[in-house]
Amino acid sequence: QKGGFKHFMLKEIFEQPRVIADCLAGRVQRGSERVALPELEAMDAPERLFIVACGTSYHAGLWGMYLMEQWAGIPTRVEIASELRYREPVLGPGDTVLAISQSGETADTLAGMHLAKARGARVIGLCNVVGSSVAREADVVVHTQAGPEISVASTKAMCSQLTLLTLMAMVFGQKKGVLPADVAAHCVPALEGLPALLDGILPALRERAKELCRVYSEARSFLFLGRGLCYPLALEGALKLKEISYIHAEGYAAGEMKHGPIALIDPKFPTFALAPHDGLYPKVKSNLQEVQARGGKIIALTQPGADLDVDHPWEIPAAWGPLSTFLMLPALQLFAYEMADYLGKDVDQPRNLAKSVTVE
Ligand code: M6R
Repeated sequence: QKGGFKHFMLKEIFEQPRVIADCLAGRVQRGSERVALPELEAMDAPERLFIVACGTSYHAGLWGMYLMEQWAGIPTRVEIASELRYREPVLGPGDTVLAISQSGETADTLAGMHLAKARGARVIGLCNVVGSSVAREADVVVHTQAGPEISVASTKAMCSQLTLLTLMAMVFGQKKGVLPADVAAHCVPALEGLPALLDGILPALRERAKELCRVYSEARSFLFLGRGLCYPLALEGALKLKEISYIHAEGYAAGEMKHGPIALIDPKFPTFALAPHDGLYPKVKSNLQEVQARGGKIIALTQPGADLDVDHPWEIPAAWGPLSTFLMLPALQLFAYEMADYLGKDVDQPRNLAKSVTVE
């Protein structure tokens, strides 16, 4: 069942190239710039969008917000479902809610959907389990096609959510006629190349994760930093590490560091930075210099062309635009996985956690 892998989590991390390919099948076509999501064919692009989710699915939603705004010009808010359900959000007919859930059974996400429906909003479900409550109750459902996810720590499901959010942002941008020309020209070919690119680097990512976790296995706490699209990834890297290795970790927007967390930095409090060679790179670099000035050790995921002088650079290949995410995410997952395995934790069944959180 584990296909020769030691844990389901590892198997599921290595399934991600296939997951991306499955999510693209029938939705993008070689030689065409256009993306087709028949599920959304009949609807107009949202005027504004509320994304509602929990945990890893919430992080996927935060990432999706950047693309919805940049590519489709849709004002987007991302809400933790357990917060939304007890607020009085300004939400009503004409609004669209996107509920993201791997299991489709998360109680808080369902409650957020119920609230949205009661107020007359339209609900799109982005869900991995066919026939689940989210799939049944949404007005429109888009399936993520990650296949069954067994490990409590969500990995390939997030990859599938990010793939579908990319396609949805493109579809809405197409519908509104605002999709930036470079996105129209480059995104589909880049997506099509992703499975092979990721497949080729996964073994090396795993080896590097193994080396690094041995260096840092005595850390009591980690800071994960990122900006822009890497901010949700920093949150996700921290969540993965804490949930399976039980090492405390905090994900932070790199620019917020000087507003508090910098006080924590010392040689025993390492930072895991997401520093791709994009437009925000100079900003992240300067944040990391602030960490180094206080004796903090740094692991940094970087790309060719970056000139970071940190304790442990971790170079990954470049991918087009936001698609670098699909190469950074498995590095974070593998770091958490190798750390938990090295520390002898129960990787697939971490203490106190359930795969599907069906109660409040
Ligand atoms: O099934 P869902 O996507 O609705 O689940 C949401 C969270 O419970 C889930 O992502 C949780 O945070 C994972 N254990 C993270 O790995």
